[in-house]
Amino acid sequence: MGIYNDYILPLCTNWVLGRRIFLMQRKLVTKELRGIVLEVGFGTGLNLPYYPDRVKKVYAVDPSLFGRKVAAKRINNCSVPVEFVGLDGEDIPLASESVDVVLSTWTLCTIPGVSNALGELWRVLKSNGRLYFIEHGVSPDVDVAKWQHRLNPLQKVIAGGCQLNREIDKLINEAGFHIDVMNNFYMNGPSFCSYMYKGIASK
Ligand SMILES: C[S@@+](CC[C@H](N)C(=O)[O-])C[C@H]1O[C@@H](n2cnc3c(N)ncnc32)[C@H](O)[C@@H]1O
Repeated sequence: MGIYNDYILPLCTNWVLGRRIFLMQRKLVTKELRGIVLEVGFGTGLNLPYYPDRVKKVYAVDPSLFGRKVAAKRINNCSVPVEFVGLDGEDIPLASESVDVVLSTWTLCTIPGVSNALGELWRVLKSNGRLYFIEHGVSPDVDVAKWQHRLNPLQKVIAGGCQLNREIDKLINEAGFHIDVMNNFYMNGPSFCSYMYKGIASK
C-alpha cells in the first residue's frame, strides 16, 4: 500500500485506461449488458458512461477507496444506480445466482487469487448469465511471451500487482465457464502489455 498504490496508481490508471482506444473497447464490451450487473474491479468507473439503459443496477467490487472518490462524478452522471458491495473479488458478499451479468475490464490481470475470484463470479452469476470481459494477458508469440515473463516481476511492483503473463482464457475455462465468443488482438502500445482477450462466457 502507501501513497503510490493508494493514490498515484488509481489516477494513472484512470488516465491511461481513459484514453480513446480503451474507451472504444469499453463501448463494445458493454453494449449487450442488461439487468443486474456485477462489475469486478470497478476502478474509477470508466465503464459507466457506456452502460445501456437495459442495465437496472450495478454492483461494484474494488479494494480502492480512492478509486470510488474519483468515480463519484461518473456515478452521479449515470442513470443506473451503483452500489459498492465489497472490496475483494475473491470474496463477494452477494447471494449465489443473483446477477444477470458480470463485467471485467482489465482486472483479471490484477486480482491476486484470480482463480478464487473467477469462482466467485461463477457463483454469483445466474445460470443463464454471461461474463463479459476484456483483459490483457500472455501472447501466443513466443518472443513477446518471453519478455512478458521477464518483465512480470517489475510490472507487479509498478502496476499494483498487475501481471503480464496470465492465460486469461485458460483461467476462465478452469473456473467452469464456457467461452462462447473470444477475440484476441494487439491494441496499440508495447506488445508485452497489449495482447487482448475480449469475449463472452457463460455458465
Ligand atoms: C487496471 S485496473 C482496471 C480498473 C477498471 N476495471 C477499468 O477498466 O478501468 C485494475 C483494478 O483491479 C482492482 N483490483 C485489485 N485487486 C482486486 C481484487 N482483489 N478484487 C477486485 N478488484 C481488484 C484494482 O483496484 C483496480 O481498480
